[in-house]
Amino acid sequence: MDPVTRLGVVGCGLMGSGIAEVATHSGIDVRVAEANRDAVETGRRRITASLERGVRRGKLSEQQRDQALTKLSFTHDLNDMADRQFVIEAVAENRDIKTDVLRTLDKALEDSAAILATNTSSIPIVDLAIATERPGQLIGMHFFNPVPVQQLVELIPALTTTPETVQRTRDFASQLGKQAIQAPDRSGFVVNALLVPYLLSAVRMAESGAAHPDDIDQGMELGCAHPMGPLRLLDLIGLDTAQAVAESMYEEFKEPLYAPPALLRRMVAAGHLGRKSGRGFHTYDA
Ligand code: 3HC
Repeated sequence: MDPVTRLGVVGCGLMGSGIAEVATHSGIDVRVAEANRDAVETGRRRITASLERGVRRGKLSEQQRDQALTKLSFTHDLNDMADRQFVIEAVAENRDIKTDVLRTLDKALEDSAAILATNTSSIPIVDLAIATERPGQLIGMHFFNPVPVQQLVELIPALTTTPETVQRTRDFASQLGKQAIQAPDRSGFVVNALLVPYLLSAVRMAESGAAHPDDIDQGMELGCAHPMGPLRLLDLIGLDTAQAVAESMYEEFKEPLYAPPALLRRMVAAGHLGRKSGRGFHTYDA
C-alpha cells in the first residue's frame, strides 16, 4: 500500500508533539489538533523548541528544521482532519476524553478506509474501537517517551481490528523509522505490564523510608545500566500519567502490584508531577 502522506495528530503534549515531530522528519504532511488556541500555541512552541534543540546538538541542519516546520499545520477544530489518511490520538489518558475525540474524528474523516490509532498506554483498545463506526480500522499505536529517541512502537490490535489495518500500521511505523512489536489488548500491553510494577515498587521503597530516592535511582543506573533510575523515569513520564496507567491496570487485574501507592497519589494531588511541573521525586529547572 502507498505510504501515508497526510497524518493527523490530536493532542500536542509530550507524546503528541514527539509523534508530530518524528513524522515531519519522514517528510509527511502533519496536521496537529489541540483543544483551543492557547493549547495550539503551546504545542507549536514545544515542537519548535525540540527542533531547535536538534539544531543546537548538531543532529539537524537549519534547513532540515525549516523543512520540518513547513510540513506542520495546526488547528483547534477536529473537522480539519477530514482529509487525513491516518490520525493518531494522543490526548490525556482519560477514557471519556479519548472516546469523545475518536468519535468526532470518526465522523470527520472523509475516507472510510482512513485509520484511527490511539496512543493510550492502558485503556482497552476494543472499548475505544466499538465506540466508533470503524472498529476494523481502529488500532493501538503506543509510542514511548521521548518519542524522537525511543525506537519502539507497540501495535495493539483490538479483537475487531482487521489484518489490513495491522499491516498498514506496521508499514507506517517503519515509515516513521520505528521498530514495531505486536502487543496484546490487555491493560499495560507488553511494556507497561512489566515496567509499571517495577516503578511502583520503587515508590513503595521510597515511601517506606527504606532507601533514599537518590540511592534507588543510582542503584538501577549504576547496577543495571538503566539510562535513568525508576523515580527519575517516573518524573519523565509524569506522575499523573503514571497514576492513570496504574489505575487502569489495577482496574483490569485487581492485583495489588498495580495499585498506585499513597505517596504517588499525594504527590499528584500536590501538583508534584515530575519534570513538567519542575518537581517530582527530584527537582528540575523551569
Ligand atoms: N527529544 C529529542 N532527543 C532527545 C530528547 C528529546 N526530548 N531527550 C534526549 N534526547 C536525545 C539527546 O539529543 C541525546 O542524543 P545524542 O546522544 O545523539 O546527542 C540523547 O537523547 C541523550 O540525551 P541526553 O544526553 O540529554 O540525556 P540522557 O543521556 O540522560 O538521555 C533519555 C535522556 C533519552 C531520556 C534517557 O535517559 C532514556 O532513554 N531514559 C529512559 C526513557 C524511558 O524509559 N522511556 C520510556 C518511558 S515509558 C513510556 O513512555 C510509556 C508510557 O505509556 C508511560
